[in-house]
Parts: sequence; C-alpha cells; structure tokens
Amino acid sequence: MNRILLLMATILMLFPTSCARTGGEDNGPELILRYADNQPEYYPTTKAARYFASMVEERTNGRISIEVYGDGQLGGEVSVLEQLLIGGIDFSRFSLGTLAETMPEMAILEMPYLYNDSEHMWRVLDGEVGKDFLSVAEKYGAVGMCWFDAGARSFYTRNPVNSPKDIAGKRIRVQESELMSTLIELLGAKSIQIPYSDVYSALQLLKIDGAENNMPSYYYTGHYLVSPYFYMDEHFRLPEIMLMSSAAKGKIESVDPEFLAIIKECAMEASIYERKIWKETEEEVMKALSQTDVVITKPSEEDIEAIRTMMAPIYSSLNKEERAILEEIRSI
Ligand code: GCU
Repeated sequence: MNRILLLMATILMLFPTSCARTGGEDNGPELILRYADNQPEYYPTTKAARYFASMVEERTNGRISIEVYGDGQLGGEVSVLEQLLIGGIDFSRFSLGTLAETMPEMAILEMPYLYNDSEHMWRVLDGEVGKDFLSVAEKYGAVGMCWFDAGARSFYTRNPVNSPKDIAGKRIRVQESELMSTLIELLGAKSIQIPYSDVYSALQLLKIDGAENNMPSYYYTGHYLVSPYFYMDEHFRLPEIMLMSSAAKGKIESVDPEFLAIIKECAMEASIYERKIWKETEEEVMKALSQTDVVITKPSEEDIEAIRTMMAPIYSSLNKEERAILEEIRSI
C-alpha cells in the first residue's frame, strides 16, 4: 500500500501541470479562444463581447477563456468571416450587410423598411424566425449564437441633404455587399464599397460624398467630423449576429460536452445585455451630437414614403420561399 502511495506522490511531483490543469480555475485555462469585433472597446457590441467572455470564464470555472480583440485588430469583417469559417478565429460579431454576401439566405433580413420599429424586429428575432436564421450559419461552418441590436441605418453626408432628391448623384459608401450597392443605386446615388475602417479617410479625402450607418457608429468612428449632415431616414434596420466557428464547437466539447450549452446560454445573456446598453448608447450619442455642429434632419412622412417606393423594386427579386418568410415577418 505504502509503495502505491509513494508511486502516486512521485507521479504528481513529476507531472504537476498536467494533473493540475484538469482541476481548472487556479491553474490557467485548458482552452483559450479568440473573439473578434471591428468596433472600438466602448461600443455596445464590444462591451457585450467582454461581458460574454467573463461569463464563460466564470461558468466554466476558468477552464475556458475567451480573449476579445476589438477595434478590428484581427482584420475587417470580410477577412474575419473567412478566418472564422476555417476555424482561425473562434467567435465574432457580424453586420448582416457583410454576412449575407456569404450566406445569401440572410439577405431577406436586409430588406429596406422591413420592420415597423425595433420592437417588431425583436419579436421576429426572439421567435421561430430568428432561431431559423441563426441555424443558417451551420451550413457554412459556423454556429449562430445570438442577435445583437445595431439600430437603424441612415445617410450622412458632407453637404446638406434635405430630401431624397439630394441623395441622387452622390457617391455613397456602402458595405462590401452587392445588395447594398443595388439598394443605394435605386435612389439614384453611386455606390462605392469600402471597408468600414477606411470610411473616415475616404470622406476626408473627398473620395465619397457620404455614407450610411447607425448613429453610434457615425459618432464613435468620428465620421461626424467630416460629414456633418445626418439625414435620419432609417432605411435599414440590420441586426447583428454572433457566430462561433464549428472548429471552436469541437474544441469546447472536447474540454467538457456540457460546456457548449453553458456557452450558448452566456451568449443569450450577452444579447440581452447588449440590447440594454444599445438603447442607452443611442441616447448618449444623440446628446453628444447635439453639442457638435452636426445637423440632424428628420425627413417628412412623404419623403420617407418616397425612399421606400424607390427601394421597393428590390422586393421583386425575392423568390417564393423568401416571400413566404416576408409575409411571416410582416404578420408578427
Ligand atoms: C456597423 C456594424 C459594423 C460594420 C459597419 C459597416 O457599424 O456594426 O460591423 O462593419 O456597420 O458599415 O461596415
């Protein structure tokens, strides 16, 4: 018996880390995963990523750690998506504008004036339709984890825009998406696809006359400094999605098969948290912008209707299945 105890003690002395590592917490994580976001540290989605990472660490007793890289440190959205689909990056948050180029089934969620308001969008995303769209990612090598709020997108320009006619003829930056280009060109504008990180300099160097995005992005990127006219037509309400690579799923399961469900739960909680801080951020940003030279124009009902009508032909490109989903979304 004593000889067995002696042998066990010797093994423990010889292999301290490998034995201890299965114990978790005090001995460092067994698995380190990387999460990418192209927004700055204090932006709602990046804050939500950190919240998610801390919950994962806590609920896996420190056995899984997620390192968050904000500010586009791991690359622009298009390149991060490519890396995630081959397992080079484990988690990221994507705008549907870019994602639907690779996962065209998502394109219907990019239709202009699709929802009546934010509440309508969340009723859709929190229900069966939202779940079905999260599962689309599986076909492409990823797992749809949860939805994030990204408000509504409007135009902002270097020169005043007071009606839809003023958008016609302007060079407007769009996301790297053919659908986005088509939609903007329906208004008579010239679309220019530019990565998010290059929009500021494109505005400054007069390569474009304007762009379109939600208000927090407009503010945090400093775009308002070089394009002070914000035309609040809210043409798209694009939700954002957190994806996990299929490779990360396998790695998590090999640490502990129960961790996958726990991590999915953390993502759902991060989504609730992000929605709350999104609303607060929108209010703070509105206040901050009111203390600058930015001119915010709210179009009249007639002008919104005119934009809606000009963009409407895009709906005729939907196939039968997409039309059925559209009807469902409208009825929710
Ligand atoms: C939003 C979104 C970004 C995206 C950007 C864009 O700000 O949160 O992820 O890259 O739009 O217009 O490219």
